[in-house]
Amino acid sequence: MSRKRVAVLISGRGSNMAALIEAAKDKSFPAEIVLVLSNRPDAGGLDTAKANALATEIVDHTKYGKDRAAFESALQAALVKHRIEIVCLAGFMRLLTADFVNQWPERMINIHPALLPAFKGLDTHQRALDAGAKVHGATVHFVVPEMDAGPIIAQAAVAVRPDDTEQTLAARVLAVEHRLYPLALKLVAEGRVRVVDGHSLIDGAPVADSVALSE
Ligand code: GAR
Repeated sequence: MSRKRVAVLISGRGSNMAALIEAAKDKSFPAEIVLVLSNRPDAGGLDTAKANALATEIVDHTKYGKDRAAFESALQAALVKHRIEIVCLAGFMRLLTADFVNQWPERMINIHPALLPAFKGLDTHQRALDAGAKVHGATVHFVVPEMDAGPIIAQAAVAVRPDDTEQTLAARVLAVEHRLYPLALKLVAEGRVRVVDGHSLIDGAPVADSVALSE
């Protein structure tokens, strides 16, 4: 089976992107990263992508003002140009409209630094601490028009320690993100994930041990 052509969309340092690039260096990995796209020209991850000899594209949202449709048309054009089959959002900090998202049904995935449906949105680690959560973590899910709400593919749990700060907790969550995202992309690229009634089935079953990681 041919490897799926993947674009990773970033806005910043791109450590999850780097984890996907590393995983895809294995020729038996079912996906290859063929494009790294950033909405910010200064995203640190672009340097990592170039160091790995990957194609990069910049679609700078500030050049489009309030015209989201034009911004998303440019995104779509870049994805089509590179014949992308699966899109991975990896710290891509722009909200996407339903018109764009609906062009990638079950082909666009996102990593979120919390155990969804808890702590959608930003500042997830501080909010988990403020809430007194004992378990926190990360989620990979299909992207749907509603923010951080699509069918969950895989999750990783991290125990919250009494002396955790936002920084220490973020660091441990990030470490599991780097294991979780390649695992989830592998499952999607192998065509083993189906969405039924808004829930992901892996190999036809509701949950598998392999998609519930812990530290
Ligand atoms: C990651 O923790 C990712 O889960 C989060 O941004 C960080 C990006 O780091 N994503 C979101 O908050 C999406 N709402 P990275 O650029 O080093 O991968």
